[in-house]
Amino acid sequence: MQLGVCYYPEQWPESLWADDARRMAELGIRKVRIGEFAWSRIEPHPGELRWEWLDRAVDTLARAGLEIVMGTPTATPPKWLVDKHPDMLAVDAQGRERRFGSRRHYDFSSDAYLEEARRIVILQAQRYGRHPAVTAWQTDNEYGCHFTVLSGSANAARRFRLWLRARYGAIERLNAAWGNVFWSQEYRDFDEIDTPHLTVTESNPAHRFDFRRFASDEVVRFNRMQVEILREHAPGRPVSHNFMLFFTEFDHHKVAADLDFVGWDSYPLGALEMFWFGEAEKRRWLRTGHPDFAAFHHDLYRGMSREPFWVMEQQPGPVNWAHWNPSPKEGMVRLWTWEAFAHGADVVSYFRWRQAPFAQEQMHAGLNTPDNQLDSGGFEAAQVAEELSRVPVLRSQPASVALVFDYEAQWAVEAQPQGADYHPLQLVFEYYSALRALSLDVDIVPAHAPLAGYAMVVVPALAIVPDGFVQQLSQSTAQIVLGPRCGSKAEALSIAEGLPPGPLRGLMPIRVRRVESLRPGITERVVLGEHHGEC
Ligand code: GAL
Repeated sequence: MQLGVCYYPEQWPESLWADDARRMAELGIRKVRIGEFAWSRIEPHPGELRWEWLDRAVDTLARAGLEIVMGTPTATPPKWLVDKHPDMLAVDAQGRERRFGSRRHYDFSSDAYLEEARRIVILQAQRYGRHPAVTAWQTDNEYGCHFTVLSGSANAARRFRLWLRARYGAIERLNAAWGNVFWSQEYRDFDEIDTPHLTVTESNPAHRFDFRRFASDEVVRFNRMQVEILREHAPGRPVSHNFMLFFTEFDHHKVAADLDFVGWDSYPLGALEMFWFGEAEKRRWLRTGHPDFAAFHHDLYRGMSREPFWVMEQQPGPVNWAHWNPSPKEGMVRLWTWEAFAHGADVVSYFRWRQAPFAQEQMHAGLNTPDNQLDSGGFEAAQVAEELSRVPVLRSQPASVALVFDYEAQWAVEAQPQGADYHPLQLVFEYYSALRALSLDVDIVPAHAPLAGYAMVVVPALAIVPDGFVQQLSQSTAQIVLGPRCGSKAEALSIAEGLPPGPLRGLMPIRVRRVESLRPGITERVVLGEHHGEC
């Protein structure tokens, strides 16, 4: 169990680097993540590579005994590169092209950008892949952040058609699967199909659903390209990516399958403010975050990480990006750090070493203030470092509950929710909270994970039941809890055969003939045998 920090040497005068490195090491930090936003300094003009400053930064950190996590800089391509390939920009759902001037300004479906990204990752990996101090790699930064997975660009349309052709083979099969006879939506050829944007009214949910699957596969492709390069040029160095909180725009299980370990970015206060929590909860947990927030993500990402997961970015004080940005209560930074270790994290890395006095994140705390004084988060990190050196920590025992979550389950409902506030991930989180309130340890796993050994298997929302899952459940001796709409849809999102719960009927001999959705706050009496309750 080690501490880390995110550091941006390119943002500070070189005269500070050695002192920064010394103070990091003194504070008890062992890992430093660098590089992920530095492309304009690495390659200020096309083909003109300036590695020397990064060499010096790496060596300075290494001399202080720090290990480096090198980030590939593909989340922030420089202006000249965008000008060279104007069609690398993504297009939003309203058909507007997104512009240069912040970050993540690229389309996962742009082949031109994929090649540029491949080029810079190869060069970077050749330069640092075998450096003894560069002991791990991070691909890109937070795939999907700022809603960048779904694009309505010509590139996305072109690649979506290829994807559909590969999936369905014949256009008749697609027409049948999507139910395109409805409203004369039939296509004569894959080349006629567009992204599901700007239709007059709701586009066909099957169209949207397949588009979500396609867009997710584009993220997998982009990440895999980088991982393959790093495996070749940085042998033996684990490769990671930093996933986000409460984020479902791509299939994290599929991306994680290509990584050695999963990292995730923990911002408990920002998350409380920006997500579904009610007013009372937002006030109650104002300075602590929701008590199940971090644990939920630890358990989710541990469930898809081959090696122990990391917290790649930990909130050290107020963030800048929520509607309101309170300071954590004293002791929370320390508590969040210990909580991560207790859930099996190997490293907790704070974002960031020093607050930047310029640009977008001026209002985001670091471990140090902009004038280089240790801030309260820094003091708490130092306290954890000191405690780590003497407190023995037992690794957690296997959990007794498997909580099943698949990303497709979220997309299936988003494509046709029926009720405005039906949100599978939220439901999974609420089940998680209920289980934690019973003091149960929970593994959050995909439907294809082995389920043997669990005492209870909880499936809050799995509209499409994948092959093999029913069989796993039938063979399981666990107590099984199925939530609403499980088994309600077939593969392309039509109503399950024989009515819901479709393939689960063998386990649960019922037929759901009608579903309704009600406004928030309305409850109904439920009688189940002797049990009376409300839903
Ligand atoms: C993360 C991101 C960081 C930084 C941070 C601020 O989403 O990876 O680069 O922007 O948020 O909280």
